[in-house]
Amino acid sequence: MTDPRPLPFNPANMEGISAKTLAIHHDKLYAGYVAKSKEICDKLIALRTSGAAAGNATFSELRALKDAETFAVNGVYLHEWYFDVLGGDGATDKAPELSKALAEKWGSVQEGLKYFSECAMAARGWSVLCWDTKAGALKHYNGDAHNQGGVWGCLPVIVLDVYEHAYFIDFGSDRKAYIEAFWKNFNWAKAEKLYLAARDVKL
Ligand SMILES: [Fe+2]
Repeated sequence: MTDPRPLPFNPANMEGISAKTLAIHHDKLYAGYVAKSKEICDKLIALRTSGAAAGNATFSELRALKDAETFAVNGVYLHEWYFDVLGGDGATDKAPELSKALAEKWGSVQEGLKYFSECAMAARGWSVLCWDTKAGALKHYNGDAHNQGGVWGCLPVIVLDVYEHAYFIDFGSDRKAYIEAFWKNFNWAKAEKLYLAARDVKL
């Protein structure tokens, strides 16, 4: 696990999502997942090298660490994907291929985003549009925790954090307004790059 990545945009330039929210979200919460991922990794190495790595599925130190490991590591990766696609101006013309793919799948880009936004209203943690390498297609999946709901073999293209910490300071309980702000600040050029890279992965 590497050190926390800096925010790839200037929080002062965001519309609706405040610098205060982003400071807490990035500097405290995301950085906390990075630190815990390292701690868990070190503890797993220490447990294995001590010869005491005994597995028991009801309870064991190994089980507790392995469970925490997927929560912490996904907490890092999902936040990095989320921050990666923010800081833009919401202009879809910066993503011609992704726009075409959204329109092919959902009828139009707007219909695709409308469906994504409704899925995000239905999630308790994460809403993710990804390239499903098994299906060879764009697919949408929701997660109710960092280590729940993800489908292995999928490469995220658009990751939206819908935990209350992402919006409560700025929007109260109005998650819909937060999702609208997410699209306003969406970095389509970055999403296009992620989509093109993911689409070429053949497994
Ligand atoms: Fe978050």
